[in-house]
Amino acid sequence: ELTAIFADMGFSIAEGPHIEDDFHNFTALNIPADHPARQEMDTFYFPEAENGSRMLLRTHTSPVQIRTMMAQKPPIRIIAPGRVYRCDSDQTHTPMFHQIEGLIIDEETHMGHLKWVLQEFCKAFFEVPQLNMRFRPSFFPFTEPSMEVDIQCDRSRPGEVRFGEGTDWMEILGCGMVHPSVIRNCGLDPDEYQGFAFGMGVDRLAMLKYGAPDLRDFFNSDQRWLGHYGFS
Ligand code: PHE
Repeated sequence: ELTAIFADMGFSIAEGPHIEDDFHNFTALNIPADHPARQEMDTFYFPEAENGSRMLLRTHTSPVQIRTMMAQKPPIRIIAPGRVYRCDSDQTHTPMFHQIEGLIIDEETHMGHLKWVLQEFCKAFFEVPQLNMRFRPSFFPFTEPSMEVDIQCDRSRPGEVRFGEGTDWMEILGCGMVHPSVIRNCGLDPDEYQGFAFGMGVDRLAMLKYGAPDLRDFFNSDQRWLGHYGFS
């Protein structure tokens, strides 16, 4: 459902390996060795190799940005869905979950385009004709400026969230203009190319859309639960 919305907007689908190296998951994304983002990500590491390097389970879909920019010349318009892994487990976190990454790189894509793409996506996904969004300044090492996006919602009815109405806000994704260093790390010239990236948690979005209270239920394969939400 999510990828179909983006495919309709002209994005093509890209995939990357779940077992990644340090370069693609961190370094090329402008996250140096001593950066706190490495600790925050709760990475699952494989045992150290003889040369001292350690492979890892990718903590986000952002390494697909790197792989794509290194493999093809702009214009780039991709959407990268897939599993990601973090050592974390509670009601709203599972050690494996899904993200969708978007990346556009060309000569003139700007933040206005980013806002339009996300607005159209949210209207299609939440099936509402209009929806207010809030772009809050944030930080990611691989985007500058970076933003977190909230969507308008109504939480006044107990046990129910409605989108596109009300006066509350809910955070749904992170995004920003791709950092010049990331573009340079991929062998492209940031004076020539620019664009935006965004990343969102698929399971979290499904929780919000269907009002499922516990993320862990998505992976328990309980027929009654799947039937209740009408999933095949
Ligand atoms: N990779 C970030 C995360 O997992 C999300 C993100 C993607 C933010 C692309 C900005 C741009 O938290």
